[in-house]
Amino acid sequence: MALIAKRGTVPPTPHTEFYAIPGVLALEEIHGSYGFSGPWSRKVHVRSYPTEQAKAPRRGDFDLSPSFPAEADLLQPHHVRTGRMPFEKDAVRGRKAIVSGPRTTLSISKPSEDMPEDTFFRNGERHEVYFVQEGEGTFRTEYGDVKFRKDVYVSMPKGTTYRVDLDTDKAWFLIVESVYPIAFAPHYFNKAGQATLMSPVVETEVELPELPPYRDERGEFPVDAKFGGGKITRITLGHHPFDLVGWEGALYPFVFDIRSHHGIAREIHTAPPMHQTFQSGNVPNNGFSLCSFVPVMQGWHPKEVPAPYAHFNVDSDELMFFCNMAYEARKGVIEEGSFTFHPGAAPHSPQGKAAEKSLADRGTVSPRLAVMLDTYFESMRITTDGWAFRDPEYVLSWSESRVPPEPSGPGWESPSA
Ligand SMILES: [Fe+2]
Repeated sequence: MALIAKRGTVPPTPHTEFYAIPGVLALEEIHGSYGFSGPWSRKVHVRSYPTEQAKAPRRGDFDLSPSFPAEADLLQPHHVRTGRMPFEKDAVRGRKAIVSGPRTTLSISKPSEDMPEDTFFRNGERHEVYFVQEGEGTFRTEYGDVKFRKDVYVSMPKGTTYRVDLDTDKAWFLIVESVYPIAFAPHYFNKAGQATLMSPVVETEVELPELPPYRDERGEFPVDAKFGGGKITRITLGHHPFDLVGWEGALYPFVFDIRSHHGIAREIHTAPPMHQTFQSGNVPNNGFSLCSFVPVMQGWHPKEVPAPYAHFNVDSDELMFFCNMAYEARKGVIEEGSFTFHPGAAPHSPQGKAAEKSLADRGTVSPRLAVMLDTYFESMRITTDGWAFRDPEYVLSWSESRVPPEPSGPGWESPSA
């Protein structure tokens, strides 16, 4: 995304004039986290160098490294009922990976409290996108405040120092992490960075961080930094990390409402590439596509079967978070917050008579809302925390004996007809 944001003014002090030398700050960023490709931003600190530490680093008081049960090696589809996971701790300490691969991790966080005062988090190894299933509050970041609410994505680039404060008693996040930057699908944008006329997303609907007044404070400010596969190191800064008087560039956290993905409808089945919002990595060679299943009119062709066909993605694992229970293909199996994991080597489909039933939905608008992620050449594994909240009967949920067959409705034709 070529959108450029610029915030703040530099107060007239000798310190800021020195620190504002663009080359110095650009090098700091490039060598810090972001490499020589992709977006970057230039920051202007009011007084202190961001390298200053008041204490030697130590091991954090929590750990986000995923563990795996022996059953993770058994090939089968999984259904994790994240709605049944408890609300607990804060947004980072309560984070539980539910599936994880070498380059991608999906976690659930259901915080019931703010992070401890004056403490911060920084994911030093993976870019993050939060999807908000429930709750309101603020991601306070070095780039400024980002307000969140139900049904928005919050993009938090790798290396961003932030904390999460709640305005509601609790919140519920699906968190996607990738070693690669997570950005809008590049084929939606022209070389000037504007969305093309066929794009379901528009860059003007991105919500930018608001930079509050800088914090020029001395003290001890812990930053819990994640690296090395989920290990946490506590870095203690000698000054408040939100000491920016301004920044500019194309790397910054932002909010994007899932309903700002303006779904595309056509007379026959609309396949997942038309639902894509974000992608990560060099698709389709690695990384993933992240899709938003928003309400759209279902196919209206007289022979259209709105339910998807049986399939498996030989090079992809398919991960899906259901925001509500309206997804027709799996009605009766899913609940709010259901998360399904379909490994690339095992097919999946609607169950029972879902395809026949879906004929009545031709040309209607489904109230479905779901987030889907397809990996490319990356096998995911269910974690211990995912396994603990699995639906143990899921692999049998396609069984005809579990869903009593119903008489075919008028107009039924098989998908191959
Ligand atoms: Fe699928």
